[in-house]
Amino acid sequence: MLSKIAVVGAGNVGATAAQRLAEKNLARTVVMIDVVEGVPQGKGLDQRQSGPIEGFDTRVIGTQSYDDAAGTELFVVTAGIARKPGMSRDDLVRTNAGIVRSVSEQIAKVAPEAIVIVVSNPLDVMCYVAKQATGFPRERVIGMAGVLDTARYRAFLADAMDVSVEDIQAMVLGGHGDTMVPLVSCTTVSGIPVTQLLPRDQLDAIVARTRNGGAEIVTFLKTGSAYYAPSAAAVQMVESIVLDKKRILPCAAWLEGEYGLSGVFCGVPCKLGRGGLERIVEVTLTAEERAALTRSADAVRSTQALVG
Ligand code: LAC
Repeated sequence: MLSKIAVVGAGNVGATAAQRLAEKNLARTVVMIDVVEGVPQGKGLDQRQSGPIEGFDTRVIGTQSYDDAAGTELFVVTAGIARKPGMSRDDLVRTNAGIVRSVSEQIAKVAPEAIVIVVSNPLDVMCYVAKQATGFPRERVIGMAGVLDTARYRAFLADAMDVSVEDIQAMVLGGHGDTMVPLVSCTTVSGIPVTQLLPRDQLDAIVARTRNGGAEIVTFLKTGSAYYAPSAAAVQMVESIVLDKKRILPCAAWLEGEYGLSGVFCGVPCKLGRGGLERIVEVTLTAEERAALTRSADAVRSTQALVG
């Protein structure tokens, strides 16, 4: 376990992530930071009091001050506004870029050696803002999106085949938006290619639903976006880092020539261990998937241009 993990943002995603981190005993202390006075303090106290029932010793502390996060080894950044129905993630870019920039500057001040997992949207561009503002190397600024998009894809596939989600291995690459790239060619059910188990039209429908997975939930909730699966995805990344598990998970990483792409954050298979992003794994894609990944990176680049 780490000594201290900090979650920035005590909204639905941040607070649920803090609770999951505590339940998994991944840190002695989880510091929850939010600009709204009282909210992280109240939620933190409530979470701490679930410890005796759930059996965790992690203390959850709520605060407005980054000083309380001095020396934190790992940050999960969820700060920013969420989408409303009809909005794309890119519609959030200006507001959230300002928030993520200021958060990142404070992180760099109090914890210059920290690893930062970005969750704020539009995800890939917020990773870019965080990397610029912290000045951290790419090993220590990683975005959560692929694990979430892949979880949605796996859940839809499991439901369609009536099999356990545990037996579905898959990867969704690309930017966290409409252009994301579910890798059908790499999707297996206990090693059996999914193309042998589901007809193409059903797979296509599942790919389309995955791409729209976040918006489907926003349409239902009306006042916010998803948080149970997003927080679970972020915590899975934290767990791989804290326990040095070296899992291969689809994450947004700063590309320097991998997949023929550079100067952009994009979802690719990443090895996560105690060093953060330890390796980007390059797999052979079909020509169609490769073109889709390039298109997705181009879409991220055009939003990235808005933040300078
Ligand atoms: C989603 C948001 C969190 O995909 O981006 O639900």
